[in-house]
Amino acid sequence: MSTSHRTPTQAIILVGGEGTRLRPVTSRVPKPVAPVVERPFVAYILDDLARHGVERAIFSTGFLAAAIEAQIGDGAGYGLQVDYAVETEPLGTAGAVANCAEMLDDGSFFVCNGDVLSDVDLTALAALHAGKGAMGTVFLTPVDDPRRYGLVELRDDSSVASFVEKPGEWQGVALINAGVYVLEHEVLEMIPRGRLFSIERGVFPRLAQAGSLYGYVDRGYWRDIGTPESYLQAHFDILERTVDTAVADLLGEEYLYVAPSADIHARARVVPPCYIGEHARVEAGARVGPLAVLGAGSVVAEGATILESVIQAGVDIGAYAQVERSVVVRESSIGAGTQLHSAVIGEGCHVGAGNRLVGGICVYPDTTLPDNSIQFHEQLRGKEG
Ligand code: GTP
Repeated sequence: MSTSHRTPTQAIILVGGEGTRLRPVTSRVPKPVAPVVERPFVAYILDDLARHGVERAIFSTGFLAAAIEAQIGDGAGYGLQVDYAVETEPLGTAGAVANCAEMLDDGSFFVCNGDVLSDVDLTALAALHAGKGAMGTVFLTPVDDPRRYGLVELRDDSSVASFVEKPGEWQGVALINAGVYVLEHEVLEMIPRGRLFSIERGVFPRLAQAGSLYGYVDRGYWRDIGTPESYLQAHFDILERTVDTAVADLLGEEYLYVAPSADIHARARVVPPCYIGEHARVEAGARVGPLAVLGAGSVVAEGATILESVIQAGVDIGAYAQVERSVVVRESSIGAGTQLHSAVIGEGCHVGAGNRLVGGICVYPDTTLPDNSIQFHEQLRGKEG
């Protein structure tokens, strides 16, 4: 068997994007290392790669590159070697792959978008690729609404008949590019060096036309964490163990992890599925969960409620505050009695007491909202509508 017919032992992880749709979660922290159940997100991808025999991952970085390197380092904590190829300007998905060319060994390699959580069988993906003698093989997953993805139509022999990036019009379930591929080294020759080039627009349609692009359909778990809704949902899926991750061992059969140093008042309620980090505190009469993550050192004061929400590290939630389907980024505070529903509060914000922030509102980092400064009146909105 030639080198390229084995499961690749090298991978490129694309982590250079700005993650605009996930702001303000990603205003200060790049999406690939945004905390997801208190781990840098890309740790879940590294776990999968290592499990399938990958020995070396090259991070293709750009936006906030140093922050990624500071968290992941040389990969020692994740069971593989991590190296970095830093872009001085964004090169797009193909340009970013080509920028790693000098660092790759000969033979095939995986490419992973740095924002995909899945339990795809990478070994089976590589086996299909090798069996077909393909130049590229794309992991495909079915979604209800493919309009913000790359739509793929397959022939019976699994070759790709067409590849359309972000189709404007489409109704019904379709197979999409799930953001994980195997490529042969020769594909690098199709990519111009040092300029913006998209793999989805510039490489895959050409490979498909040449009959050398294949699709591997996996109907297992798949989610990209690129929007606040999907970022929250990824937390829920990990807490509910819908996707198998390293966190499952901590949660166990109770679907509950409370760090040994956390301080839970005897009259507080912690309702699984739930994860409570080191030195977090939950005061009397407060309720955390179900489907909640409380980051290290965060405090939920008396009578407050955290439901279906992510509270990152070092956050103070005031007495009788209510937080539902929301994300509060690190080092922020929420005043007493304030209600958050489908809100995203950026790093270092101080939301005063008695506010009501609902309906997808995003508050950018370091904002201070005085007490009783924001209200949302459903009746008023009803009249306008
Ligand atoms: P949005 O701005 O919200 O669309 O997010 P994004 O910048 O992450 O873009 P997108 O979700 O389309 O990117 C998919 C993956 O490719 C992510 O892991 C990005 O980090 C990565 N990526 C996107 N563009 C580039 C690029 O120009 N260079 C590199 N190195 N990676 C990129």
